[in-house]
Amino acid sequence: MTNQKDFIPQPTADGSFTFFSEEFSELFHSYYGARQESFYKFAVPTQLEFQAQKPVIRILDICYGLGYNTATAIQTIWSKNPNCYIEIIALELNQAVPKAAITHQLFNDWNCEYHKILNILIQIAETGYIETKNIKANLLLGDARITIQQVISSGFKADAIFLDPFSPPQCPQLWTIEFIQLISKCLSSTGRLATYSCAASVRTALITSGLEIGSIPPVDGKKHQPRSQHIHKLLVLLFPHYQYPNKSIYKLVQPSPIAIANYPILPK
Ligand SMILES: C[S@@+](CC[C@H](N)C(=O)[O-])C[C@H]1O[C@@H](n2cnc3c(N)ncnc32)[C@H](O)[C@@H]1O
Repeated sequence: MTNQKDFIPQPTADGSFTFFSEEFSELFHSYYGARQESFYKFAVPTQLEFQAQKPVIRILDICYGLGYNTATAIQTIWSKNPNCYIEIIALELNQAVPKAAITHQLFNDWNCEYHKILNILIQIAETGYIETKNIKANLLLGDARITIQQVISSGFKADAIFLDPFSPPQCPQLWTIEFIQLISKCLSSTGRLATYSCAASVRTALITSGLEIGSIPPVDGKKHQPRSQHIHKLLVLLFPHYQYPNKSIYKLVQPSPIAIANYPILPK
C-alpha cells in the first residue's frame, strides 16, 4: 500500500489540489476542480443545505480519501445551520491519504478555521475519531467491503451517502451489485446517495439494490468530467425507490439558481 510520501499535490482548475494514485492509476479528483467536485457532485445532489434544517444529519462517506467530501459537507451544513449535529462514518482503505492531505496543508484556502473544521479533519486523519458537542466522526480503516458490515450492524442510517471510489475499470470491487446492496442498507428511507458514474453496470447495480436513479447537470456545463483521459464520468443521484415512485428526479435534484448564487462557500 502506498505511503504518505507517494502523494504529491497536483493542482486542479479551481485552485484546490488533488493526488494521483499509482496504485489505481488515476487521479483522486477531476482536473476541473477537486473542491468543486465535492460540492457539486456530493453536497448539492444530497441537498445538504436543505437537510441542514434538521437537528441531526448522518453521513456515510465511502472512500474518504483526502476528506474533501466530508469537509465540504460540514461546511455546507454549518454555513446553513451551525447548530446541526453531524454524525459521520467514513470508510477508507489507506490512512496515508488523509494524513498526506493534512501534511501538505491542502485545506489552507478552504476557510476551514471557521467552525474549527480543520481541527476536525486533522483529528479524523490522525486518530480516526472525533466527538464534540456538535459532531461525531468515525473513520473505519480497511477494505470498505468489510467495514461496511460494521456500519450495517450498528444500525446507522444515513441521510446522505457519498460513494466515491476510483472509476469502475480501476476499482471494480466497489461498484458491484453485492457492495451496492450492502450500502443501500445504510440509507435512511428519506436519504440520498450521490455518486458520479453512469456506467450501465453501475446503473444496473443501483436499480437492483432498490434505488431509483437520475442524473444532474454536469459541473461547469461540460458533458464529461474526466479524471483520466480514458474515463468519462457523469453525475448520478439516487434515492430509495419506494420514497418517490413516480416523480421526476430532475425536480428533486436541481438546486435553484438562487440557492447556488447565494451560496456562501462556493469554490473560487
Ligand atoms: C477517488 S478517491 C476518493 C476521494 C475522496 N472522496 C475525497 O474527497 O478526497 C478513492 C479513495 O478510495 C480508497 N479506496 C480504494 N479501494 C478501497 C477499498 N476497497 N475500501 C475503502 N477505500 C478504498 C482509496 O484509498 C482512495 O482514497
